[in-house]
Amino acid sequence: MIKKIMAANWKMHKTWDEAVQTAREVVVGIGEDLPPDREVVFFPSGTALKAVGESINGQNGYFLGGQNFYPAAQGAYTGEISPLQLADAGCAYALVGHSERRHVLGEKDDFLAEKVIFGLSSNLKIILCIGETIDQRRQDRVEGVLAAQLQKGLEKIDQNVSAHDLVIAYEPVWAIGTGETATEDDILQAHGFIRKMLKDLLNQGQEIRVLYGGSVKPDNCARIIALDNVDGVLVGGASLKADSFSRIVLA
Ligand code: 13P
Repeated sequence: MIKKIMAANWKMHKTWDEAVQTAREVVVGIGEDLPPDREVVFFPSGTALKAVGESINGQNGYFLGGQNFYPAAQGAYTGEISPLQLADAGCAYALVGHSERRHVLGEKDDFLAEKVIFGLSSNLKIILCIGETIDQRRQDRVEGVLAAQLQKGLEKIDQNVSAHDLVIAYEPVWAIGTGETATEDDILQAHGFIRKMLKDLLNQGQEIRVLYGGSVKPDNCARIIALDNVDGVLVGGASLKADSFSRIVLA
């Protein structure tokens, strides 16, 4: 069974005890009701990883993820964190190429490609985030942008590394944190295109999960995850409160 991923990206929010408390409230609140075809992934800040990991440890269907890492096992990279350190803190997943890393921190596709391959070969499941800006959408360049981000981001994947642990998140930049969700047609079109690209690039079209992110809320999540080629959601603002995120997980 391919499980849907319901992911909470807490970005640079929460102290470690707030993060632990929110994760616990979600786990305890949902209890036995977590549908068997869904898994939950928490992406707290680095300082809270270990504590959140311990608080969900042993809970079926709940996982921990890192928001970012540097593509080296160790070394003189002040301020960075390695995939091995993420795994050591309990992470099964990591994000690569989130819109804020691309547009605020200036990360480029070739660096992201290195992260994808290094993360996968370090036994992390990688969620590669892609998405167009509002200007690119207005210029009718959505498919061109998604194709380029996928092609470049995945170009280092070879036969030695399985794409089985790869997940793509479609997060249109204009829908992140704005309250403006992509329409169902926008999502269907983008996800159908991504699915086709994955088949062309990696010959693994159906196995790779494709998530939607961008102003997902408790009241729009059910419609979004029911769409063709949508294998889960990556949630920012609405994942910060346990009650709101739990309603999303159960939508
Ligand atoms: P919002 O849900 O706040 O729009 O953020 C989406 C996001 O960036 C998740 O990674």
